[in-house]
Amino acid sequence: MTFLFNSDARRGAVFADAFAKELPDVPFTMDAATVDPDAVRYFITWTAPEDLARYRNLEILFSIGAGVDQFRLDTVPEQVKIVRTIEEGIVRMMQEYVTLAVLALHRNLPGYLAQQRAGDWRDIPQLQAGSRRIGVLGLGQLGQAVLDRLKPFGFPLAGWSRSPRRIEGVTCHHGEPGLNEMLAASDILICLLPLTEETRGFLDANLFAKLPQGAALIHTGRGPQLDHEALVAALDSNHLSAAMIDVTDPEPLPTGHPFWSHPKIILTPHVASVTQPATAARAVIDNICRHRSGLQPIGLVDRSRGY
Ligand code: NDP
Ligand code: OXD
Repeated sequence: MTFLFNSDARRGAVFADAFAKELPDVPFTMDAATVDPDAVRYFITWTAPEDLARYRNLEILFSIGAGVDQFRLDTVPEQVKIVRTIEEGIVRMMQEYVTLAVLALHRNLPGYLAQQRAGDWRDIPQLQAGSRRIGVLGLGQLGQAVLDRLKPFGFPLAGWSRSPRRIEGVTCHHGEPGLNEMLAASDILICLLPLTEETRGFLDANLFAKLPQGAALIHTGRGPQLDHEALVAALDSNHLSAAMIDVTDPEPLPTGHPFWSHPKIILTPHVASVTQPATAARAVIDNICRHRSGLQPIGLVDRSRGY
């Protein structure tokens, strides 16, 4: 029962060490070329290879990230569990990134950067935190963690999910009417939705029009959720004031794409969160132990929902 690791060797070395110490009866390999495919029971990767079916005894396909949209779920054999990585490093980094972005937008950083470049020493009217309403699309592990980290600043907090949720200190919305209500009251909108057929193209002109005048966007979900042209149009018409964008489609963006130089956009290259190998190995080993003792792994993907 071999564990096959397909990602960068630096992270692989940390995983190999953890497996040797904590799960010595599960041989660990990074060498797909020489492994006996019938021995592979567990496989961790970012993208699934075309020939996944060669691992006839595969029990769990792990995504090395929090998302699974890079897999074609329908091509993964039915009996294989698909499990995403839920680990404290991803969560902590997302909390840091979104806090950075919220504070940057709240304190008008894009405007001040533009003024600095123009040699313009002038204050921009500043709202207090209690008047800057935050709305989070997606109330999963990351949406909830981010809201928790934002609580001490005093922003009015809201979130939206598919099913109803109750979170202390957060106004929770769900479904279509709940979405419109939250959008109308979000001065900073944060997208932390998984990419599914329902969320593809979700951040479009129609959605931007429902946000208050001067609202800002933080996008840390997935690139194909955002209509790039609609965002640029909403910024250029001054309906939206600024955006901090971590994910795009394609990645990387081509030379000359308007996001590279737009004065109201701060762009980062899909770095909001990066899987941390020590904590990820711990989470994967725990999940193998759960699976072997008949429990469901944490982060098990519901194929019908697509996340
Ligand atoms: P979860 O699966 O824990 O949470 C997803 C949330 O989105 C849930 O609250 C879910 O609702 C909600 N949701 C999904 N579909 C819909 C829909 N159609 N309508 C309304 N709500 C919906 O995911 P995570 O929090 O772990 O991660 C979210 C995403 O963040 C990842 O899928 C990935 O795309 C992105 N990500 C980006 C990173 C980066 O570096 N930029 C790093 C890591 C993740 P419900 O609660 O009802 O199920
Ligand atoms: C992830 C990511 O899904 O880095 O973990 O985007």
